[in-house]
Amino acid sequence: MDNSIIIQKTIAFVKETLTNAEGGHDWWHIERVLKNARDIAETEQADMLVVELAALLHDIADSKFHNGNEEKGPAVAGAFLKSIEVEPAMIIHVQNIIRYMSFKSSFDQSVFSSIEMQIVQDADRLDAIGAIGIARAFNYGGYKGRPIYDKAVLPELHISKESYKNSSAPSLNHFYEKLLLLKDRMNTVAGKQLAQQRHQFMETYLQQLASECGLKM
Ligand code: ADP
Ligand code: NI
Repeated sequence: MDNSIIIQKTIAFVKETLTNAEGGHDWWHIERVLKNARDIAETEQADMLVVELAALLHDIADSKFHNGNEEKGPAVAGAFLKSIEVEPAMIIHVQNIIRYMSFKSSFDQSVFSSIEMQIVQDADRLDAIGAIGIARAFNYGGYKGRPIYDKAVLPELHISKESYKNSSAPSLNHFYEKLLLLKDRMNTVAGKQLAQQRHQFMETYLQQLASECGLKM
């Protein structure tokens, strides 16, 4: 099958599957990550089809929304790619990217990497910062019924995957526990550059928020 038909079929599958997804993990998140990933991939030597498929399928069944099941995403993606006859080695590569690219996986010893994974991870991390990152963090917190901030609950630096996953802290804490850390964790030169400006915008936003709300930062 022609690559462009594979991509078209995958887009249709992802749109359909994410119809009722939380606003920060819906089709529009995927569309943004796909664009970021394509832009970064232009500057690297990478298999564009793998990059595009992994970007499209990386949140197809995020464990946060599936009772913590971390194998559901790779399984759903794998079954779909098999149904459209993508070659087995490529399916395994895309599944590994989905399995190991998430922030929570970064607490574990890394067991898999590839340039394609680094690109998609940077693309997803870019969507967690800047103006859209701010919107997504508060939307996710609202979806979970969490406060915007709570002066009595200070941010923690999580050192294990379990404590990070089980946190039910106010949304503002997520900036200090994850979002502000991302600029120093970008993999690619292009990703690092794009992250700088978004990071700066978040810093400005947080200063303004602190002055409006009487928060100590
Ligand atoms: P991953 O799924 O890559 O391990 P996260 O669980 O941090 O990473 O989720 C991705 C996005 O979901 C974040 O960038 C943020 O927008 C939102 N999110 C996740 N956890 C929180 C949280 N505790 N508070 C606010 N937003 C969150
Ligand atoms: Ni994502």
